[in-house]
Amino acid sequence: MLSTSGRRLGTWVLVSVTLGLGLGWQGSQAADTPPHQPLPFTLEQVQAGHAQFDRTCAQCHGRNMVNAGTTVFDLRKFPVDERDRFFNSVTNGKGNMPSFKDGLTNEQISSLWSYVATRGGKEL
Ligand code: HEC
Repeated sequence: MLSTSGRRLGTWVLVSVTLGLGLGWQGSQAADTPPHQPLPFTLEQVQAGHAQFDRTCAQCHGRNMVNAGTTVFDLRKFPVDERDRFFNSVTNGKGNMPSFKDGLTNEQISSLWSYVATRGGKEL
């Protein structure tokens, strides 16, 4: 009698642990999702952004955004949730950076943003 209920309890514990793990797993997957949601970029966009970056930005910001970050902003550290700031700085210029208002279309700046916001495509 005692051993039967003991076994039943054991089964119940096993089931709850399995369920708990299952839910925990799903829970942690869901928690991983949000940071990637504001970055709905395609590979094509990022590649276009990379090409555009090489043409108009790399001479100051460095190939693959690699530079010392002392006088020129290190774009690898640009906050990925500050899209408006990126557009504003690139469009209007900032400090020693020229304005690209006449040089780039919104679409080109968008592709540049996809390149910078995905850390050069690494977080796509
Ligand atoms: C002539 C050199 C030069 C070129 C070309 C250039 N930048 Fe910059 N950029 C700078 C400098 C210098 C800064 C630092 C400005 C400051 O904070 O005073 C900067 C800062 C930035 C910032 C940070 C602005 C902020 O809000 O703090 C972004 C974003 C940026 N550049 C993007 C770009 C992109 C994209 C391109 C290509 C379209 C580009 N830059 C081309 C020199 C340049």
